[in-house]
Amino acid sequence: MTGRILATRAHAKINVFLRVLSRRDDGFHDLESLVLPVSLHDLVTVRADEDLSVQVIGEHASKVPRDGGLALTAATAIAEACGRDHPHGAAIQIDKRIPVTAGMGGGSADAAATLHALNDLWGCAVPAGSLTEIAASVGSDVPALLAGRPVLIRGRGEHVLPVHMPSSVWVVRPFDQQVRTPDAFAWWDVEGVTGPDAGALVAAAETAHVDLLGASLFNDLQAPVCARHPQVAETIEAFLDVDAVGAVMSGSGPTVAALARHLLHAERLAAAVPGSFVVSGPPAP
Ligand code: C5P
Repeated sequence: MTGRILATRAHAKINVFLRVLSRRDDGFHDLESLVLPVSLHDLVTVRADEDLSVQVIGEHASKVPRDGGLALTAATAIAEACGRDHPHGAAIQIDKRIPVTAGMGGGSADAAATLHALNDLWGCAVPAGSLTEIAASVGSDVPALLAGRPVLIRGRGEHVLPVHMPSSVWVVRPFDQQVRTPDAFAWWDVEGVTGPDAGALVAAAETAHVDLLGASLFNDLQAPVCARHPQVAETIEAFLDVDAVGAVMSGSGPTVAALARHLLHAERLAAAVPGSFVVSGPPAP
């Protein structure tokens, strides 16, 4: 079958702060987080086909579940929302460049990009509000990444508020070792602490006050993860030792993100911490 091919960038994210408020009766946790999409991205390509299928290629392809992960869940969910009057077959290809199970939201970004792309390819015209509801049913990080811009999230991740954030430069250090998200939250349940109100941090992000922002980065999942994965704490220290403005674990980890003053500073930090590389956020439109 021939037809339109749509290619979409699926951007990774950094959690500039992540505050865990409480464990809920449904097992999820109420959160507050500033989610910043960054330049690092997967490439999601969709084309009309008889059936729904996901193929993963690229650097990190071997670490993605064989069933295509969250992208297939997202495709199935939007096919259902579109209804039988619309086509609901597509060949989805993901060029996987974002490290997997790293706290950078790669699988969720692929799911969000798949929702946008299939909504367009199939001509479903699912409105933005409904698309966010579908995103939330796919995974807690998907609504934030569907927004395609910096957002403040609340609830389990389904409440999304756009935040104006000027461009910032970061250095990220992923690890081969993976941390499962449910494990990180279960460790927080044992010894977890809730961080401070993030109003001043959000204001610093909005006004590009780099020093204030760097000094106030935090993640309530960081201490429980560091207790089991000391390389996360060591890497944060390594970034601070070479004068990063601040450093914090992203999401449920183990990726560490360090804030830089400008591109040259970021390149110096990346040269000093092996395995790290420079990203910027939010990505150019
Ligand atoms: O929503 P998602 O499938 O990404 O969540 C994976 C797991 O992470 C959940 O099953 C839950 O254990 C944990 N989680 C949580 N609170 C959140 C988000 C995720 O406890 N807000």
